[in-house]
This record gives sequence, C-alpha cells and structure tokens, in this order.
Amino acid sequence: MSGRIETAPEELPDLGGAADRLLAALRHRYGLKRDDLLERKALGVLRQRPADNVDDWLDDLLARPVSDTAWLGVVDAVTIHETYFFRDSGQLRVLREELLPTLIKRRIGAADRRLSLWSAGCASGEEAYSLAILVLRALEEAGESAHHWSIGILGTDISPAMIEIARKGLYGGPGLDAFRQLPKRFEGYFCDLENQPTRRCVVPAVKELPRFQQHNLMDSEPPAKNVDIVLCRNVFIYFDEVSQRQAVSVLASATGEDGYLLLGVTDRLSDDSGFVRQSTGTAVIYQRSGPAS
Ligand SMILES: C[S@@+](CC[C@H](N)C(=O)[O-])C[C@H]1O[C@@H](n2cnc3c(N)ncnc32)[C@H](O)[C@@H]1O
Repeated sequence: MSGRIETAPEELPDLGGAADRLLAALRHRYGLKRDDLLERKALGVLRQRPADNVDDWLDDLLARPVSDTAWLGVVDAVTIHETYFFRDSGQLRVLREELLPTLIKRRIGAADRRLSLWSAGCASGEEAYSLAILVLRALEEAGESAHHWSIGILGTDISPAMIEIARKGLYGGPGLDAFRQLPKRFEGYFCDLENQPTRRCVVPAVKELPRFQQHNLMDSEPPAKNVDIVLCRNVFIYFDEVSQRQAVSVLASATGEDGYLLLGVTDRLSDDSGFVRQSTGTAVIYQRSGPAS
C-alpha cells in the first residue's frame, strides 16, 4: 500500500504528510512494510507529540542515524513482538528429530564438537531458549556431554527493549502466555520463582547458552558467520519483497556451507535466494547452496 494517508481532516489536519515521511523512513531503514496496521501505529506515535512540534520532531528524528535510541523507541512502538516457547512445533520437530541429530553425528565424526544457531528477530528470547533446550536434549540423546561442546546460540532483534527482556530469562505474567505451547517433557527446563506464581525462569544450564544482541536485518553485515542453523520466523510478514530480499542476503551470508534456514511457516524463498528448498513431513526448510559468502 502506498500514497498519502487519509486522516480525519477536522481532527488531525496535518498529520498525513508527517505520517507519510515517517512510514517511508521505517520502510527504508528497518524494512517495515506500509500497511493499515503500521499506518495506525505511526499515527499513534505522531499523536503523542504536541501538535505544533510534530514536523520539528520528525526533522530531528530523520537526521539521526538508524541505530539512534530515539529511532529504536519508535520502531519498538510500531512493531509486534508476539512470541512464545516452542512456537510452530512442526518446524521444531524437524530440528529436533532430523537436523540436530544429523549435525551432531557429523561433528562427532569430524571430532569438531561445535554448534552454532541464530534466532533472527527473536523478540523477547523464547525462541533462542527453545533452541537451547533442543540442543541440550539432542546432545543428551546422542550420549554427549554439553560441556565438551562449543555451543553458540545467538538471539537478535531490532528492539533493545526486547533484548533486555531476553537477557533476563524471566517469563510469565497473567496467563503464563509464553508457556502456552510448552511440551510437558520440557517443563523441567524452567523453575518457579518464590512469591511469583505467574512467573518462571529458565534453568541456569539453559540460560547460559544464548547470547542476545540488538541487530537490524536491514544491515549489510550479519552478526555471525558460519552458522549451522538460522531461524527467522514470523518476521518476514512485516517486510515487503525488497526488504525480504535484503534480509535473505544477510541470512545467507551468516549461514555456513550446507547450513539450514527456517522461516515462518508461510514464508517462501525465490529460486535465486542461495538456498534450496526441502520439504519434510512437518515443515519447509531451506539449505544453503554453494559456498557461504
Ligand atoms: C512476531 S516477532 C517474532 C518472534 C519469534 N521469531 C517468533 O517467531 O516467535 C517479530 C520480531 O521481528 C523484529 N523485527 C522487525 N523488524 C526487524 C528488523 N529490521 N531487524 C530485526 N528484527 C526485526 C520485531 O522487533 C519483533 O520482535
């Protein structure tokens, strides 16, 4: 969707032009596609400014660099951070039953006990901790001690506020929403907190595995290289085609030779993405084709 925003003229006569400028910058800098929801959220951000100050505020914002905290506050306000442990279990089953056991076996054979995973667009970190649990479980099932492995699990997101939550490893709140799809067999990886019946924490063996950092998928450089398995799930829905291509090139340059990429369940890559599509029983996964850049 493009074109000038229709605001109720009697109510907000001059926010449409400011919203257009803000939306164009959100698209250009952070890949965020213009749609009804983003328009509403952008207007919400602008309405928080005093009416006679919107243009000056926007001029100042547009002059700031992409990683400036003022910008990241705006991005935080317009993005959606919905996530929970073991989301999209069909994909994670492929990871647990096929990708991780095969990779672990191959690395044992090569006496190269190293695993690297990246959760790109990890929001508050549940996906990265889910990966940590799956890695620990897969090593245990292979008869391996995690202490003899170098395990790198990286969680990144554009939102510094989300990264801060992820680093704490404390989840819950009313309804314990983050745990709504937690399989029973993984409950032992979480512990209760004294006097906090609606909150739980990840156990130390899980908490110590992921490292979290802020990263923009529109950056030309990935935050890691030679990654065995990259997840970027439920992020592309916020990008248009051009932004998706940019993100895929960053994901590709992070993925090691023969490494895997798992996207959101409805995301599909074009033939020239640098990945080959492989359909399994419960998920579509992509494998890096050709040497990693
Ligand atoms: C819906 S959450 C998905 C969380 C998790 N991957 C999952 O599937 O449960 C989408 C996340 O993408 C992040 N995001 C949006 N644009 C981004 C960008 N340009 N770079 C990095 N992360 C971005 C948002 O901040 C948000 O936390």
